[in-house]
Amino acid sequence: MTAPLRFGIWALVHGSRAALQDPDEPYDASWERNRDLILSAERLGFDSTLIAQHTVNPHHHALDQLEAWTSAAAIAALTSRIEIIAAIKPFLYHPVVLAKMAQQIEHISRGRFAINLVNAWNRAEAENAGIHFAEHDARYAYGTEWIAIVSALLRGESVTVQGEHFRIDGYELRPRDPYRARPQIYVGGESTPARDLVAGHGDTWFINGQPLADVQGLVADVRARRRGEGLAPVRFGLSAFVIARETAREAQEHCEHLAALAAKDQALKAQRRAQVDPKSVMHQTFAKTASVGSNGGTAAGLVGSYDEVAQRIAAFHEAGIELFMLQFQPFEREMERFARELFPRLQRWRASR
Ligand SMILES: Cc1cc2nc3c(=O)[nH]c(=O)nc-3n(C[C@H](O)[C@H](O)[C@H](O)COP(=O)(O)O)c2cc1C
Repeated sequence: MTAPLRFGIWALVHGSRAALQDPDEPYDASWERNRDLILSAERLGFDSTLIAQHTVNPHHHALDQLEAWTSAAAIAALTSRIEIIAAIKPFLYHPVVLAKMAQQIEHISRGRFAINLVNAWNRAEAENAGIHFAEHDARYAYGTEWIAIVSALLRGESVTVQGEHFRIDGYELRPRDPYRARPQIYVGGESTPARDLVAGHGDTWFINGQPLADVQGLVADVRARRRGEGLAPVRFGLSAFVIARETAREAQEHCEHLAALAAKDQALKAQRRAQVDPKSVMHQTFAKTASVGSNGGTAAGLVGSYDEVAQRIAAFHEAGIELFMLQFQPFEREMERFARELFPRLQRWRASR
């Protein structure tokens, strides 16, 4: 059986992904923009959307930020086909409350909801609210206990736990999920505990944009880890910023244009850099390759002619990537271009295999 090949878009929860001061994409992280963006992604044939979770804008506290969970519920009611993935940082919600919210959005969306478990890097986001921001591996230990509870509740089981962090006594959520065993669980994060977490409890591991050989190594590493009982083999998603044009030269020019615009944000983003947990492996990886976009962005190499980008996506797919979570800028225009130029090429490639 051939593995699914799916494409998603990052919601613009904190504005543009590559550069915040772009005359071709005025800063806009509003609900209306995100709603229209996801509705048009669904119409164009995209399969999924990822709504990142930040309570305050991670680049600068004075910039706008969309709330992930309330937006995911509204998007669920407005769409009919696209998968909706909302990110979640475990220390912000008790697992019983979060499982109930996830189950409700699963019902509203009629079986299209997923969570993306992320264990956070932004110390100030937590500490300025008086929320304890534990050390890196302690956050993962907390997240592991947390997701085991959420996952069991989502499956409709009665949960009793005497854990290090949680005491739960005979909790059950009703109604059950009528569409499948439970909503999907994605995990983002690159460290060893992140890999163990997805192997033990997740369905899909999100890898940040990076070169093919590195992605092949990461896929092999997680496949070799001890899998949680009763779980199907781990699936893989890749975050990537796409710049596709008629010619490679045009794509490179646009990439340089965005890099020059992004340089204007350096001072603004200094706040973000100061907040990063230095133990975040993901941020150590970003530092290795200059890139445009967030979460690895163009480091995945999806910058080139239409045919080149299609070939590189095909190579990642052969390495095990099933879901490509994409970024563009200007987002709406480039997302449409991707659907117009890349979907047919990739369909032809799939048909020829
Ligand atoms: C696809 C993806 C999406 C992410 N989304 C968020 C998010 O919405 N909010 C957030 O605070 N961190 C997000 N992260 C970052 C995680 O919090 C990050 O993995 C963590 O800080 C560092 O973990 P690591 O040391 O295991 O790499 C995301 C990471 C990935 C790979």
